[in-house]
Parts: sequence; C-alpha cells; structure tokens
Amino acid sequence: MKYSNYSVLIIGGGAAGLFLAHKLSFSNNLKDGILLVTKGKLGESNTKYAQGGIVGVMPDNKEDSTELHIKETISSGCGLNDFASVSFISEHSCAAIEDLIRAGVQFDRDENNNLIYTLEGAHSVPRILHGAGDATGRVIEEGLVDAVLRAKNIEVYENAMAVDLLLDRARDCKGAVIYRADIDDYEAIYSGATVLATGGVGQVYKYTTNPSLATGDGLVLAKSAGCEIKDMEFIQFHPTALNVKDDVKMPLVSESVRGEGAVIVNRFGEEFISKYDERGSLAPRDVVSGIVHKYLKENPDDSIYLDISRIGLENFERRFPTITSICREHDIILENMLIPVTPSAHYCMGGVKANVAGETDVNNLFAIGEVACTGLHGANRLASNSLLECIVCASELARKIDKKEFSSIKKIDDEIKKTLSIYDEARELPEYNCDEIRRRIKNIMWRYVGIEREEKGLLQALFDLKEIGRILGSDKKCLNREQYELKNLLRVAEIITRAAFARKKSIGAHKRIDYIESEPLIVGDYREDELFVK
Ligand code: FAD
Ligand code: SIN
Repeated sequence: MKYSNYSVLIIGGGAAGLFLAHKLSFSNNLKDGILLVTKGKLGESNTKYAQGGIVGVMPDNKEDSTELHIKETISSGCGLNDFASVSFISEHSCAAIEDLIRAGVQFDRDENNNLIYTLEGAHSVPRILHGAGDATGRVIEEGLVDAVLRAKNIEVYENAMAVDLLLDRARDCKGAVIYRADIDDYEAIYSGATVLATGGVGQVYKYTTNPSLATGDGLVLAKSAGCEIKDMEFIQFHPTALNVKDDVKMPLVSESVRGEGAVIVNRFGEEFISKYDERGSLAPRDVVSGIVHKYLKENPDDSIYLDISRIGLENFERRFPTITSICREHDIILENMLIPVTPSAHYCMGGVKANVAGETDVNNLFAIGEVACTGLHGANRLASNSLLECIVCASELARKIDKKEFSSIKKIDDEIKKTLSIYDEARELPEYNCDEIRRRIKNIMWRYVGIEREEKGLLQALFDLKEIGRILGSDKKCLNREQYELKNLLRVAEIITRAAFARKKSIGAHKRIDYIESEPLIVGDYREDELFVK
C-alpha cells in the first residue's frame, strides 16, 4: 500500500469541500499541502444540481435583515434549530456571497449590475441569489473547481473513495484509507486535519433528486469513529421533482418556479394546497410535501402539476433554461403550461454533530456541508440555506486550520497498523448483485420510512434491512466502490429508521401517522423573546 502525508485531507468535492480547499490555498501554514479526494469526477456532486439558489442577506436588499432570516429559518425548522448556529450562519451570509464572487462565481444581475433576488417557500422576502437562471449549483461548482485547479498547493484525486478513517490509540484522527478505483488499490493518507465534506444520503430512497454518489459515506465513517450522529429522522422531501419515476435520480423543478408565480394544482387545474395551509404553494417544504402526499393517498387516480401560466412561456424559458431543457428532454409540452411533479427525497437535515467550524467529537476530524448537522436546519430546512451553510462553515474551518499547529506523524501506532492491515491483506471477498440489493434498500425506505412513518412499518423496515445485512456480511474490506456504497447505504438506512422509530412525535419533516400531535413550536434551550437579544 502506498503511504502519503498531507497537512489537510478534504474528502469531497462539492461546495463545502471545494470552498474549503480554495480558502486554504491562501494559507502559509500548510507545509505538507492539501489533498482533495472525490469518489467520482471532480465536480460531480449534489452541488452541481442545485437550482434555486443561495441565501444572501445583503445590505442592498432593504426589505431584508438577518433578524428576519433567522426567524424564518427557525420557524421552518419548527424550533429544533441551534440558535447560535442559525445566527452565526445568517450573519456571515453576506461575507460568504462576497467571497464566492471573489472566487469567480457569477450570480445573476439586472441591467444595472445589481444582484437579483428570488423567492422560495417560507421566505417572506426575495433573498435568494441565483446563477445562470436556475443552475446556481453548476455555476458555484464550476467557479470553485477552476479556483482549486489553479491553486499550487492543492492536489486532487478523482475516483478515490475514503473507505476508513485512521484513528490512533487516543482516538485522534490521523487520516484515512482511500480506495483508488482507477488502479484498484488502496492508499493510506496521513493528515493533520481530516475533513468530511461528503454530502447527503438521498440514494437511500427509491425516488430522490440526489445523484448516485449520495450514499452517506461520511456519515458512516464518522459513526464508526465514534462521532455523535444527530437528527437523522429529518429527511426533507421536495414536493416538485419532475414526475418521471426514475429510480436513480429524479430531475428537480425548483421551488423558485413557485417563487416566480407557479402554483401546484391537481389534474383538474385546481389549486388545493391553500385549502390545508393558507400559505399555499409557498408554505414550508415539509408542509407542502405532506399535503401533496396526503392528497395523492386520498386521490390515487389524480396527479399533481405545476401550473406555470402566471409566469408565461417566454418568461419561463428565459428565467429557467435548465428546467426548460430537462422538460423538453422528457417530452413535456411546456406550451400546455403544466409540468407533472411528484415528491422526492431531497436533503438530510441530520448528520455528524458539528459546530459551525466543522469540529466533531473526534480530534482532528471535521465535518462540513450536508454531511454535518450544525443545527441550522432543525426539523425542516429553509430553502437555499444549504449552500449557504456549506460556504460559511468551510470558511470558518479554513480560519481554524490556518491557525492550527501541525505536528508531523513520527510513529504509526498499533491501532492504525491494525486498520491498515485489513486493506493490505489479500483474500477472497464475496460477490453479490449490488444493483439488485441497492434497489431493495431504496424500496424499503421509500415504502416504510418515507414522508409518513408508523411503528409497524418502521419495525418491518428494520427487519428487512437486517436480512440484507446478512447477505452483505460484516467484512470491512470490499471488492469495489459499488460494494462499499451499498454497505454505507445499509448503515444509513438503519440509522434513519432507528431515529424515526425513536421520535414518537410528528414534527417538521418527520411525520408519524401514529403520533400526529406536533411538538410545541419552540423547544430549544431559548425562548422566542430571547431570540434577537445580542
Ligand atoms: P456535495 O455537493 O454532495 O458533494 C459531496 C462530494 O463528496 C462529492 O464530490 C462526492 O463525490 C464526494 N464523496 C462522497 N463520499 C465520498 C467518499 N467516500 N470518498 C470520496 N469522496 C466522496 N441547496 C441550496 O441551498 N440551494 C439550492 O438551490 C439547492 N438545490 C438543490 C437541487 C438538487 C437537485 C439537490 C440534489 C440539492 C439541492 N440543494 C440546494 C442542496 C445542496 O445542493 C446540497 O446540500 C449541497 O450542495 C451539499 O454540498 P456538499 O459539499 O455538502 O456535498
Ligand atoms: C430548489 O431549487 O427547489 C431547491 C432549493 C433547495 O433545496 O434549497
């Protein structure tokens, strides 16, 4: 096995990992350099598919304020948010946007070169910046990839998957084991700081907007290292994925389409959401998905559409070029003004417990972006707060690392040698049909741990997942990336299901039909009247 040494190892090349690498490229403190590993091609990530935009509470937006953004984030999260994280991230949003612009990211502007803001569900004012209309994620990803590739002190490994963490006897993290698919071999990376920026878990569900790499790897690595994992029952279902029933990845129809005037209707063209919630199609995402799900359960022959007639075709095509071409690729006739949509798993509010600088329970192991749970989102994320969290937390972690004292590894201790020996050892490993088993996990989760949950279904899910565990066995070493991902998906599925079982209340994105009574709105360790005292 090859051994390498870096000051910082960043696992993941989405917004969080790339932005951290970019910020660290200016540090003079990292004499062994930075390695960024990504399990696919650089740029392939959830980030790349983000459409609606990124929250920025900007001084030129006179209607807006951090107080308002904080309040709406907490109200969307049903009060289960961490107030300190929410206020920190909101107060750093303007700096984050300015930093992105400096890094080369171009947000949409009007004819006077002013930034343009759009609206999404549960925001009371337009405060969402976007790029190339509805390709904000691609614009951010491309801008940051360019910046990272230009930097002299960053090395990038593509097709390189972190499969284990190197923990010494004191349980300090000293790096990771990387499986390099191109050469079918392992490499031990020793690092002074190891950062999980591995993104979400959407692939655990049959229908998801997340690409196939979103298998919760970082979460499983952190859990195995002894980190606390939080809030995993809170999975956000987006109400308007394009209804193409693709069980690998569902294309999204951004919430900003509703922000610009579209409404959710049934097949008779009737707007029905406002019968259940006066905020209608722009109610918080958990509310809209819950209503759509209930409506379709009660009206199984009906279908749901986005009626775009208030936007008008010409406007729509200009403002949403990505969604327009996705619709055309799927033979949807936009001239009819109706886009067929359906709920789909989209975002994980839970994750590795971390503060806004990515610090976890394990020394020298950090988590940022969707894999982390800083408490920003509570029980339901406010739209476009995720990209913001990636950038603010990456920036804060970069500041921490820049000041860190690095000591080079002098001796590899026995605990680390034991971990490495697993991957050094040549032996026969079992083969199984990864595609088929992946589909089974996705079906179980969709059926029993989806938008609505109840005890009977959750127990059935745990039973079925256990059966799959028997097939996969307990070996840590696997044959290939597909097997590693499958084992991670299974662990993530179990974690979500156990968390959903444990919370015997309905709140936010966690809807227990056997416990429909909601928790009180504010349940954090603060009172609503204390929220804005500085
Ligand atoms: P990702 O962007 O998912 O990147 C994870 C990276 O980690 C990838 O490079 C992956 O290859 C790598 N990786 C994973 N596991 C391993 C491993 N074991 N070894 C090595 N590398 C690994 N949020 C918003 O705020 N606004 C939006 O408009 C918006 N729209 C969205 C639209 C879609 C379709 C989706 C799916 C999400 C959207 N989100 C949006 C959510 C947001 O895009 C994500 O939460 C955010 O981009 C996550 O960034 P990240 O850097 O944490 O992870
Ligand atoms: C969207 O564009 O609808 C996605 C926004 C988000 O997930 O924050």
